[in-house]
Amino acid sequence: MNTYITTPIFYVNAQPHLGHAYTTIVADAYSRYKRLCGNDVRFQTGTDEHGEKIVQAAQDAGVSPKEYVDKISTLFREAWPVLTIKPDNFIRTTDSSHVRTVQDILQKVYDRGDIYFDEYTGLYCKGCERFLTEKELVDDKCPDHLTVPEEICEQNYFFRMGNYQQWLIDHIQNNPEFITPERYRNEVLSFLKEPLEDLCISRPTSRLTWGIPFPFDDRFVTYVWFDALINYLTGIGYPDGAEFEKYWQVAEHVIAKDILKPHAIYWPTMLKAMGLEPYAKLHVHGYWKIGETKMSKSLGNVVRPVEMAASFGVDAVRYFLLRDMSFGLDSGYTPEAVVARQNADLANDLGNLFSRSLTMVKKFAGGKVPEPGDPQGIDSQLADAAREMVAAYQREMDDFSFHKAIQAIWDLVGRANKYIVVTAPWELAKDPKNSDRLNTVFYHLLESLRLIAVVVQPIMPDTAEKMFDALGLDREGTLEELAQWGKLQPGMEVKRPASLFPRLDLEELKKQSEKAVASSPEKTEESEDSELISFDDFKKLDLRVGEIVAAEKVKKSDRLLKLTVKAPEERTIVAGVAEHYQPEDVVGKQVIIVANLKPVKLMGVLSHGLVLAARDGDRLMLSGVSEIVAPGSRVS
Ligand code: MSP
Repeated sequence: MNTYITTPIFYVNAQPHLGHAYTTIVADAYSRYKRLCGNDVRFQTGTDEHGEKIVQAAQDAGVSPKEYVDKISTLFREAWPVLTIKPDNFIRTTDSSHVRTVQDILQKVYDRGDIYFDEYTGLYCKGCERFLTEKELVDDKCPDHLTVPEEICEQNYFFRMGNYQQWLIDHIQNNPEFITPERYRNEVLSFLKEPLEDLCISRPTSRLTWGIPFPFDDRFVTYVWFDALINYLTGIGYPDGAEFEKYWQVAEHVIAKDILKPHAIYWPTMLKAMGLEPYAKLHVHGYWKIGETKMSKSLGNVVRPVEMAASFGVDAVRYFLLRDMSFGLDSGYTPEAVVARQNADLANDLGNLFSRSLTMVKKFAGGKVPEPGDPQGIDSQLADAAREMVAAYQREMDDFSFHKAIQAIWDLVGRANKYIVVTAPWELAKDPKNSDRLNTVFYHLLESLRLIAVVVQPIMPDTAEKMFDALGLDREGTLEELAQWGKLQPGMEVKRPASLFPRLDLEELKKQSEKAVASSPEKTEESEDSELISFDDFKKLDLRVGEIVAAEKVKKSDRLLKLTVKAPEERTIVAGVAEHYQPEDVVGKQVIIVANLKPVKLMGVLSHGLVLAARDGDRLMLSGVSEIVAPGSRVS
């Protein structure tokens, strides 16, 4: 059997964070699991490098788009091994083979008549890099970016997505596993109740050059999704690579709910138009939040996976992410939650079981796997529980229910710990007459540990490796072979156990990370002048030029003016300038605003940002720019 598993290719306008890491750990764990099942597996991830956002990010960083994408793509590529993620292929949309494939596909679909040229006026959201329909707006704004989309009229190429709507509905209805969990399948089916509009797939080069040129019209480049989705084909050598033959029919994509529509609607219809079968499965997960809050750069709460691994250990991070999120639903990250999992599930439950068992075997059985005697009821129950665990684990892993697969393993860990308490090997060891019984108990314990090591491997590869080493085990073989009860050979030596997991102390971790920061050379320089901030800190500020289009006094306040500021969408900002300016003085002025402040209520008015002003003695002068510029222009 073959397996082809992919993650989204991540935009290089941001560095790898917890959300990217989760999707990629899921795909890695699944690929390791399928390999363990004996499958021939291909696991692909990569980076999405074209589009307006990337050009903007490069400009902000003061480098060329190519320099910029090379740098950030490398950050992604290098983050994955730190988390023991081992993709077979890392694809970049700037790879020449990808560019060629996208152009071939555009030509093919154009020749088949499913791409046409037309004029279009629509509401374009820069954040989404696509036109939105009226229905998608909430309070006239893009619900994801909370910005008012711009009305744009231009000529473009369109893909006749609508031609394949009925086919897609039938396909989803006939294949319950095509989109899972079910809530997302239902979401797509409900969206498909309305007629599908054709998809705009180009951008004029006058607006965007950082993209793949159309093969039949070099005045246009491809629209971001038509370029990006095709990576799943390029990476396996479409159209005539042997790997394409082998893997396409079993393709499984893992994504979060943010990109459901492109994957569940654009992509299958594009494939149909190319004359290809759709992918086999789409697995959709929810969002990681930070506690209860959305993770976002502007809120400054982005969690970096490489730093998490340095604090908690790689396996603790992998375990936590796979255990704490019910695949499909949102979940909240806090350092406290990772530490709690590590101390309870890993150090206490598994770590203790492992070290107690091996220490006792060393002490009371000469450090060798003993020959078991006849099992009693309690022994057979443990063996049955182990067999049931393997079956449940397989069912849940196949189903992408990682948290349930882990629960099944930990049920066995709990049982084995109780088995020790009930059988009390240290008591048996007191009387040589019990040696047969003691050997049977040890055999059952060690055999349970062996099975746990086998199934834990896709989730925590390093831990499994340590367990295999201590148990002196051969790890070659498929899950079916390795998971047979009774494979452990009497007489084999077990090694003195290394501790699997340290207990973590959150306070201690915080102190250590403060110390590490304080002793780093950059920090020493910085701390000599605590007024200095780093460029990265400065970059967190979103400074914009805003035009004041209306102003009024805030009731019952001598100090505050309520301003309506266009930047480019209109927002309310409350400014403490009423003692210096009358409302009519400020209307029409262009000022500099901080656009990404958390909203605050001042005298009952919600203020979305802050206006910069200079204080000179008693005077207060509003900031501004020397020439009139477009409202919303970035100040850098
Ligand atoms: N480039 C497109 C994808 C093209 S695929 C043909 C893109 N890139 S992205 O960098 O924005 O990545 C989105 C994906 O990152 C999500 O679908 C998910 O896999 C992951 N996540 C980003 N933020 C996340 C959370 N807060 N939580 C969980 N996963 C998240 O969209």
